[in-house]
Amino acid sequence: MNDHPLYRQLQQCLEAVRRITDFQPQTGVVLGSGLGGFAQSMEIEAAIPYGDLPDFPVSTVDGHQGRFLFGYVQGAPVVAMQGRVHYYEGYDIQQTVMPIRLLGLLGVKALLLTNAAGGVNTAFQPGDLMAITDQIGVFAPSPLRGPNIDILGPRFPDMSQIYDRALRQTILEQGDKLGIPLQQGVYIQFPGPAFETPQEIKMARLLGADAVGMSTACEAIAARHMGLRVAGISLITNMAAGILDQPLSHTEVNETAARAEAAFCRLVSHVLAAFAEATA
Ligand code: HPA
Repeated sequence: MNDHPLYRQLQQCLEAVRRITDFQPQTGVVLGSGLGGFAQSMEIEAAIPYGDLPDFPVSTVDGHQGRFLFGYVQGAPVVAMQGRVHYYEGYDIQQTVMPIRLLGLLGVKALLLTNAAGGVNTAFQPGDLMAITDQIGVFAPSPLRGPNIDILGPRFPDMSQIYDRALRQTILEQGDKLGIPLQQGVYIQFPGPAFETPQEIKMARLLGADAVGMSTACEAIAARHMGLRVAGISLITNMAAGILDQPLSHTEVNETAARAEAAFCRLVSHVLAAFAEATA
C-alpha cells in the first residue's frame, strides 16, 4: 500500500522541504499553546510555512502559527512545528497527522508533543506542567484508519509504551535540575471544539484521565506507528469543566499559557538538548 494517495502526498511534501533545506533534525517538537515564543530559543536555519507545502493542512486557530522551524536548540538539531492542526478544524484525522508523519520521514528519532490542557485531576492547578505517562485516544477516530501504509509502520502497531519511559525520565530530570516542578498523568483527547461538559469530565476522571485536550493523542499514535520515540508535556491552563464554578474560555487558556511561557520554554529547550543526547 505504498501507492496510497496519502503517502504520495507525504513524499511530495518531503521533496518540497528538501528543495528548501537539507537540514537534518534529530528530534522534533510540536509547540502547543504556551510555546508560541519558543522560536526565540532556536537558532533558526530555515522556516517553512505549512501553506508552502503541497495540499498541506493549515491551522485556522487563533494563536497557532503554522510553520516548520529547522534549527538548533542548545546545539541540538531540531525541527519544531510552530502550530498544529486539530481534528475539530474539519480535516480528516489522517490529514491532521500529516505533519507528524512528515517529521518521521524527515528522520527525527524522538518527538516531543506539547499542548495546553484542562486539569481533570483536582489536585492540579492552572500553570502546572504534566509529563504525559499514557493516553486515552478512543474519543477521536484513529489516525491509522484506512488502508495501512506499510512503509510507515505495521497494520496493528503496539501501543503498550506509547510514551517512552526513558524520555519521560529525562523530562523529570530536567525539571528537577531547573527547579521546575512537574506533575505526571494520563492525557485524554476529546474531539472539541466545544469544551467538555462537567459530566464528560467526571467520566474522564473515572476512566483515569488527569488532563484533557483536543490534540496530541492522535499525533502520538501516528508517530509511534512509525517507530518514533514519543514524549509529551501538557501545560494545565485551566481546571476542566465543572471543577470550579466558572465558565471556561479560550482567553483563559491563552492567558495562563502566556504566564507559564518562560518556564515552559526553558524546560523544553533543556529537554530537547537532553533528548538529542539520549538518541545520539
Ligand atoms: N478542555 C479541552 N481542551 C483544552 C482545555 C480543556 O479544558 N484547556 C485547554 N485545552
